[in-house]
Amino acid sequence: MTHRPITLIGAGRMGSALAGGWLKAGLGGRIDIVEPRAGDLLQGWAEAGQVTLNSHIALADILVIAVKPQVFGDLADEIAARVGPETQVLSIMAGVSLATLTAKLGTRKTARAMPNTPGLVGRGVTLLCLPEEAEAQVEADMRALLEPLGSVEGPIGEDLLPAATAVSGCGPAYGFLLAEVMAAAGIAHGLDPDLATRLARKTVEGAGALMAGSPEDAATLRRNVTSPNGVTQAALEVLMREDALPSIFVAAIGAAIKRDRALSEETG
Ligand SMILES: NC(=O)c1ccc[n+]([C@@H]2O[C@H](COP(=O)([O-])OP(=O)(O)OC[C@H]3O[C@@H](n4cnc5c(N)ncnc54)[C@H](OP(=O)(O)O)[C@@H]3O)[C@@H](O)[C@H]2O)c1
Repeated sequence: MTHRPITLIGAGRMGSALAGGWLKAGLGGRIDIVEPRAGDLLQGWAEAGQVTLNSHIALADILVIAVKPQVFGDLADEIAARVGPETQVLSIMAGVSLATLTAKLGTRKTARAMPNTPGLVGRGVTLLCLPEEAEAQVEADMRALLEPLGSVEGPIGEDLLPAATAVSGCGPAYGFLLAEVMAAAGIAHGLDPDLATRLARKTVEGAGALMAGSPEDAATLRRNVTSPNGVTQAALEVLMREDALPSIFVAAIGAAIKRDRALSEETG
């Protein structure tokens, strides 16, 4: 983990998850948080001397931006006042490009990351995106900053970030949807709604835990629980038809990519 001091702009869900991870990694005392509505968690950290809250504007060493993309435009000048020649910027804002960060903050020392919500419990996956000229040490520092949220993938090219975001950034919602539609199908076939909801939820949770604990890929795990001509196979033959889940997912990821690009144009 980096020993450079960190300034965090925005400590909502993702920002506070990151800060919590940095504190667990022993960075207490080196974190400055800018957050206009600091709740009990942040106030507690500040009272314990682990972070400073809303201190005066000063040049940052590592500056992590975790505000909503929609407010970044209004905040850019204020944030730029914290950026000096040595400041390394890391943004987790969706849809704000490296070029926009450079233009608004006046530095090429930028990096982007796209986390996902399981990062709130340390089980996320974050995509890292760096300018071409970034040195190996920058990648190492950025990985160390993001690892409290879970695993870190990349660096990948910014052109691939929308597709990767559509898979992993949006992906937790697809997992939750699976639990919803499984429950609804059970109810449609006569199960009590509460029971169907519990069965579907626990099954999705359990399948995720099994996958997390196994070196096998998802397709092998699926085949391992599918007896030839059995009950599971009958269901999978419907789900895996060419016009069913495989093509629906290609279309869904395509729609997410399109929306991501449109949002980037609005904020960029
Ligand atoms: N959640 C996700 O799954 C996810 C995934 C990937 C990327 N991201 C990105 O992560 C970023 C943060 O998302 P989030 O879910 O953590 O959002 P969030 O909970 O709304 O956090 C943003 C925080 O920034 C604060 N803020 C607003 N104005 C500020 C200012 N002037 N100075 C400092 N802080 C200010 C907000 O305070 P107020 O509440 O008072 O406005 C809020 O606490 C977003 O850019 C999002 O695109 C999120």
